[in-house]
Amino acid sequence: MKAAVVIDFDAPLTIEDRPIPAPAPGQVLVRIESSGLCHTDIHAARGDWPVKPTPPFVPGHEGVGVVQAVGTGVTVRAIGDRVALPWLGHACGHCDHCVSGWETLCEEQQNTGYSIDGGFAEYAVADADYVVPVPDGVAPQDAAPLTCAGVTTYKAIKVAHIRPSERVAVFGIGGLGHLAVQYARLVGGTVIAVDIEDSKLDMARDLGADYVVNAAETDPVAAIEELGGADVAVVLAVMPSVFESAFAALRRGGRLVCVGLPPESDGPMKLPIFPTVLKGISVIGSIVGTREDLAEVFELHALGRTRVISETRKLDDVNEAIDDVLTGRTNARIVFEL
Ligand SMILES: NC(=O)c1ccc[n+]([C@@H]2O[C@H](COP(=O)([O-])OP(=O)(O)OC[C@H]3O[C@@H](n4cnc5c(N)ncnc54)[C@H](O)[C@@H]3O)[C@@H](O)[C@H]2O)c1
Ligand SMILES: [Zn+2]
Ligand SMILES: [Zn+2]
Repeated sequence: MKAAVVIDFDAPLTIEDRPIPAPAPGQVLVRIESSGLCHTDIHAARGDWPVKPTPPFVPGHEGVGVVQAVGTGVTVRAIGDRVALPWLGHACGHCDHCVSGWETLCEEQQNTGYSIDGGFAEYAVADADYVVPVPDGVAPQDAAPLTCAGVTTYKAIKVAHIRPSERVAVFGIGGLGHLAVQYARLVGGTVIAVDIEDSKLDMARDLGADYVVNAAETDPVAAIEELGGADVAVVLAVMPSVFESAFAALRRGGRLVCVGLPPESDGPMKLPIFPTVLKGISVIGSIVGTREDLAEVFELHALGRTRVISETRKLDDVNEAIDDVLTGRTNARIVFEL
């Protein structure tokens, strides 16, 4: 099978011909159809974060495909099922986080495309209990971006507890942001989209944003203050300074939802204590979403409530695709067709 492999944090990915893996007990073998390129895959390939994956590994945590074979003991999935292989590739199932609906916080978790080989390949094996069924009404090309960008922003909007009419500022209208805008609208928010590319802001308007701010031309804090300040700021951009701007744009009682994960070398975000206390600000970290969150994301999409904007590439062009994400030359999400 063809696979895109990280062999070194300082080198481009290599396309390799590898044997098709066999499903171990409890696993499924999936023939991947579509696989989205998340900015996290770029962080993974470069070893950007404090906890690093171990090369060689296959990135990709938005793989969607059809079950081709099942390992012994698998009863929950069957050959022919279409499934998604999300970031949460495995959790222990019995710690306090797992049993209280917070499996995404499990300390024993394994992550697809990071600690286990992911979806940038024609085939992948996965824990049968942690793949998520893709309903018939959701095309694989749409299901792929929903598998991380969708579930992550859906969860970020859930944890912000938005009341209808609250102002929600979304910083970064890329793969995650184009879906965040839509979930914020679905819960009744007034949406302010912030990016540095006019093309992304045009897309945000098209997807329902009420206001747009080009942070390369206008100070986003002043622009949002002029609108009365944000009740919620969801940060999806990859620079600590954007988190600080988002914090500054909050009104009293505001919630800062941190989702973007800049490289460790970019340093921390600095939060001033005085306004945090006086304004009663909550700072919330939000990491992907559960299997149930993803099932809800697919259901909403099957109902026609969300639109996925993506462009198709070949896996052979993975390095060009990464360059295009880094330079903003893409529309929302790149999806590899396999
Ligand atoms: N917490 C989680 O569970 C989770 C899940 C998935 C991804 N992530 C992280 O989220 C981040 C975003 O991922 P993505 O795939 O959407 O990336 P992306 O590259 O598609 O989107 C980033 C967007 O930020 C915009 N941007 C750049 N500078 C900006 C600025 N100064 N102000 C506002 N916008 C700016 C870019 O133009 C781009 O549209 C990455 O760090 C990724 O690792 C986190
Ligand atoms: Zn992701
Ligand atoms: Zn657990």
